[in-house]
Amino acid sequence: MLFDPEPKRSRRDFFNMDDALADFMDSVSSDKLILVTGLRRYGKTSLILTGLNEAGVEYVFIDCRLLPSGMISIREFLKLLHRELRSHSWARRILDKIAYIDIHGLSIRISRLHDVIIDVLEALGDRVLVLDEVQELRRSTYRFDSLLAYLYDHTRVRVVVSGSQVGMLYRFLRVNDPSAPLYGRPYHEVRVPRLSEEQAREFLELGFNEYGLKPDERVIDEAVKAFDGIVGWLTFFGYTYSRDRRSVREVLDYASSLAASEVMKALEVHGVAVPRYTEALRVVASLGKARWSDILRGVTMRLGRIPRNRLSSIIRDLVDMGLLEKTREGYYSVPDPIVRHAILHKVRV
Ligand SMILES: Nc1ncnc2c1ncn2[C@@H]1O[C@H](COP(=O)(O)OP(=O)(O)OP(=O)(O)O)[C@@H](O)[C@H]1O
Ligand SMILES: [Mg+2]
Repeated sequence: MLFDPEPKRSRRDFFNMDDALADFMDSVSSDKLILVTGLRRYGKTSLILTGLNEAGVEYVFIDCRLLPSGMISIREFLKLLHRELRSHSWARRILDKIAYIDIHGLSIRISRLHDVIIDVLEALGDRVLVLDEVQELRRSTYRFDSLLAYLYDHTRVRVVVSGSQVGMLYRFLRVNDPSAPLYGRPYHEVRVPRLSEEQAREFLELGFNEYGLKPDERVIDEAVKAFDGIVGWLTFFGYTYSRDRRSVREVLDYASSLAASEVMKALEVHGVAVPRYTEALRVVASLGKARWSDILRGVTMRLGRIPRNRLSSIIRDLVDMGLLEKTREGYYSVPDPIVRHAILHKVRV
C-alpha cells in the first residue's frame, strides 16, 4: 500500500521515483561508495531498501539513529551490527566471529573490538553495507571514516550511506578534504527529489484509491499545499485520513508537533546556545525568506549582541542540518513547510 507508514521495500508500494531508483540500482552494480541524500522524509530509506531488494543483492542495514545519544563507542556500533546480522540466515558463519567475544563485557580492549569489526565486515564479501543516517557516526572518537576508507581500499564490500542532514554527512565523510581518509575515493551521489505538485496529487489519489476512497478535490488541494512534495508527510496524511478521516488541519497540527520535537532533539547538542539556534530559525520562518543581516537583527533584538562569526557558524550548522536552505540569491528559508509551521507555532524560544 502506498500509504503504509513503514519505509517501502518493494516496487509495488514504491511511488514513481523511477529515475532516482534506476540511478541507485545502476550505482549499486558499479560503485563502491554510494551517497543517498535528501531532507527528512524524502524517501531515502525506501529508495535504498526497494533498490537493493529489486536488485536482489544481500545487504546489512544499520540504522545509525538507533545508536544512543551522546558519544558513540565502537562497542555500541558492534552491538548494532551484531543485532542486524542475527536477522540474516546467510550471516551465521560471520556471527561466529563475534560469538567468542563478549561485546557487552567491559574488559575487551578497543583495539580488539576494532579487529572484530574489520573481520566481520571483510566477511561480508561483495555484499552491501548500508549505513542509514551515517552523520550520526560523527559523534565518536572512533574514526568511522577511516573504517570506511579501509573497507573501500581493502575489501569487496560496497557501502551505501544516507543522510538527511546532508551538510553534516559531508562534514563526516570529508570526501573533498585532502587530509581526510576518504579523500580521492570516487563515489556516486543519488539525490532523492521532492515530488512535483502534480506527482504529489497523483500519489494521494492513487493511495486513496487503494483504500477505495475518493476524497473531495478540495481535500487533495489543501493537502498538497500543506505538505508540499514531501512524500513522507503525504504518506502520513494519507494514512491518517484513510484510517480516521483526520482533516488536513488536524494532521498538520499533529505533524508539526512531531517536527517541533525532532527539531529540538536535533539542536539539543548545542546546550546553552539552543536559544540562538531557535531564534535564528524563528526569524527565517516568520519572514519566509531572510537575509543574513535580517537574521542578525532579529537574533540581536531578542537575545542581545552576538558575534558575527558565531552567528555565521550557527547558520552554517542549520543549513548543514537541513533546517535552513540558502537560495542562489542569498536568502535563507525553511525548506520543509511542516518544520516552518512547527517553528512558528510549537517551538518556544
Ligand atoms: N517512493 C515512495 N512511495 C511511497 N511511499 C514512500 C516513498 N518514499 C517514501 N515513502 C513513505 O514516506 C515515509 C518516509 O519514507 P522514508 O522513511 O523512506 O524516508 P526517509 O527519507 O528515509 O525519512 P527519514 O529522513 O525520516 O529517515 C514512509 O512512510 C514511507 O513509506
Ligand atoms: Mg530514513
